[in-house]
Amino acid sequence: MIKIAIFASGSGSNAENIIRYFANDDTVCVDCVLSNRLDAFVHERAKKLGVPSVYFPKRFFDDGSVTAFLQARGIGFVVLAGYMLKVCDGLIEAFPNKIVNIHPALLPKFGGKGMHGSHVHEAVVAAGEKESGITIHYINNEYDAGQIIFQAHCAVAPTDTPDDVAAKVHELEYRWFPSVIDCLLKQKPMVHEND
Ligand code: GAR
Repeated sequence: MIKIAIFASGSGSNAENIIRYFANDDTVCVDCVLSNRLDAFVHERAKKLGVPSVYFPKRFFDDGSVTAFLQARGIGFVVLAGYMLKVCDGLIEAFPNKIVNIHPALLPKFGGKGMHGSHVHEAVVAAGEKESGITIHYINNEYDAGQIIFQAHCAVAPTDTPDDVAAKVHELEYRWFPSVIDCLLKQKPMVHEND
């Protein structure tokens, strides 16, 4: 069984979607959820679905405590689903090419420090973009700069608000993130947005 740990800092709707997707899988399971926020709604979602969720203050993500926790639980893959902190080098070295992130825009555009959640959609609308989308990528030691695994696009209308764009992007996230993880972990051909 390949055990996934999900890192999330906020609502956790992607975390919930991924937990549900793998709930009855024979070879992959979501073992636990980690958050750097005690008040993150993701804890409620995980509890409801019977998945342990743990709060670690930021320093524990950086000082090796989280790495040790994951190794002790036999975690084989880490999914960042709305996780707002930079992943420290030690964790990346402990899980080489085994940490993926979802970014709510078409990287390399609208990535980097401070570009997360609603800030991304506000920037997309302010720039008058005609499209946005999602990027699923490996983590490296720069913000949003690891190797891209998958992208999917959505149209942005001139009248769209940042909330409208967020809704379209979330829809893409729910549709694609679990199956991209599935392909990676089961070494299946990668899905494509025209599939
Ligand atoms: C998602 O849209 C995700 O792409 C974004 O945060 C949101 C979390 O929503 N991640 C980032 O901005 C990372 N830079 P959720 O908590 O409901 O899954």
